[in-house]
Amino acid sequence: MEDWKHARSVVGPSITRGVTVEIPKVSWEDIGGLRDLNKKLQQAVEWPIKHSDAFSRLSVSPVRGVLLHGPPGCSKTTLAKAAAHAAQASFFSLSGAELYSMYVGESEALLRDTLRRARLAAPSIIFFDEADVVAAKRGGSSSSNIAVGERLLSTLLTEMDGLEQAKGILVLAATNRPHAIDAALMSPGRFDLVLYVPPPDLESRYEILRVHTRNMKVGDDVDLRGIAEDTELFTGAELEGLCREAGIVALRENITTTVVCNRHFQTVKDALKPALTKEEVDSYSSYMKTRSLTSSGQSESNAIANRDTKCKKNSLVPVLSLATCVVSVSFLAAAKYFSMHTNQTRHELATT
Ligand SMILES: Nc1ncnc2c1ncn2[C@@H]1O[C@H](COP(=O)(O)OP(=O)(O)O)[C@@H](O)[C@H]1O
Ligand SMILES: [Mg+2]
Repeated sequence: MEDWKHARSVVGPSITRGVTVEIPKVSWEDIGGLRDLNKKLQQAVEWPIKHSDAFSRLSVSPVRGVLLHGPPGCSKTTLAKAAAHAAQASFFSLSGAELYSMYVGESEALLRDTLRRARLAAPSIIFFDEADVVAAKRGGSSSSNIAVGERLLSTLLTEMDGLEQAKGILVLAATNRPHAIDAALMSPGRFDLVLYVPPPDLESRYEILRVHTRNMKVGDDVDLRGIAEDTELFTGAELEGLCREAGIVALRENITTTVVCNRHFQTVKDALKPALTKEEVDSYSSYMKTRSLTSSGQSESNAIANRDTKCKKNSLVPVLSLATCVVSVSFLAAAKYFSMHTNQTRHELATT
């Protein structure tokens, strides 16, 4: 069995040749913190692939698409890769930049082709990084870029509906701008699961620091918990940078050094500021709240919106009429002044 497993990892299905297909090397152990999120993602990604018979026994249809959203540098891409690694599925990664082409129809063809290949190489995971580019809201401006985005989106929508019949295919997407994604993608059967990837809390920061100092020679005096406490609002990427920078500071101090000490970490930490602010984090996390509000009370919110516009119209009427009055009065006054003035000049001219 071991030999079979080894052979399976070396020989892949030929149909996947030519597209960026690899099983990523990132595993769950490389991600610090975010335990709940890991578990949810594991269930959504691994279970339908590893326990497909259990799903068919109960006639439960698995999740078709998962959208990860949150501030940049908080491990969305890394999570998607770890999920694919754990499920040992073919991983088709498509980023917005790869999909854009100046030739009409080429981007859609690439998208369709990738989905076809994914279907043939199932179980597979299709990952859209920076998905807001591919699935941007329709009807924005009329520039050609938007037109490509719209065509891509409609292709994606029809293809995702086609996935109903296909087994063992999961669409994963990550974005920093969930508000920019078209609402049509959020309907059931498309991105059923929307997960918020928050900036790390204290415990997660400590674990991230541990992950990134795992292979480093750090001194006994290094207080990772203390650093985690002092790095509120730092993202995972920034913490990774902090560890790397501390190593460089140690080398700069003495190129023959064998360990990175606490003072090196402190020097770097004091020089760094988090890129995120509290307000930004609030606005990132508010997406879920607004989304659940709109999906649960769609008609209600529509009614409120209608009422609002009506109110606005009603309140606008007197304001508008008042403005017209003021303008016309001032116009009349100006006309009168002008005519008086010309009369006067005419009179003066006549007298001279
Ligand atoms: N929770 C975490 N644990 C370990 N490393 C992390 C974590 N969050 C972020 N990182 C590091 O930050 C880098 C950027 O993360 P990435 O997944 O690309 O972020 P995003 O896609 O959300 O912008 C990765 O290389 C990863 O090593
Ligand atoms: Mg990313």
